[in-house]
Amino acid sequence: MHKDVESILYSETLLHKRISELGNMINKDYAGEKLIVVGVMKGANVFVADLIRQLDIDVVLDFIVVSSYGASTESTGIIRLLKDLDENISGEHVLVVEDIVDSGLTLDYIVNNFKTRKPASVKVCTLLNKVERRKVDIKVDYIGFQVPDEFIIGYGIDYAEKYRNLPYIGVLKRSVYE
Ligand code: PRP
Repeated sequence: MHKDVESILYSETLLHKRISELGNMINKDYAGEKLIVVGVMKGANVFVADLIRQLDIDVVLDFIVVSSYGASTESTGIIRLLKDLDENISGEHVLVVEDIVDSGLTLDYIVNNFKTRKPASVKVCTLLNKVERRKVDIKVDYIGFQVPDEFIIGYGIDYAEKYRNLPYIGVLKRSVYE
């Protein structure tokens, strides 16, 4: 375990088991359809790479880059779209893939933005859901785990751009950020 990690919340094995279950649900719900899967960078990078390999429907992979946190632990509420979609999503089924939903501000911005482009549907899949911190009411269609209000890192999730490479999800030691 990394020296800055207090405890492991979800091991690599547990993550892959749950991602396979999410993949099965998505395969069933979109059977016979084409799906545009949109990873929200940078955090969702690792999750989306594992999730799409569980899908046996027609998948087009796209990415957007948004940023809200900077190096702080609190959301500023200001979402910046740093890179837009490459795909035209008009008339298409879209699945937005996030690593974590916290205040919900990022997803609220993304979903509302996408809806103006008249897709056939927009759904959301997140690996982690931290409902305790929600500021806006948003619908999340596929959830890997409900997480406690701890400082979570690993498997794509950073603190000040570090720890994204950890293969598990862990809790960051308070001494690192206090
Ligand atoms: C994180 C995470 C989500 C967002 C969730 O991204 O990946 O996109 O915050 O927070 P919210 O529900 O409070 O909006 P971040 O802005 O840290 O960028 P990153 O993905 O590049 O790490």
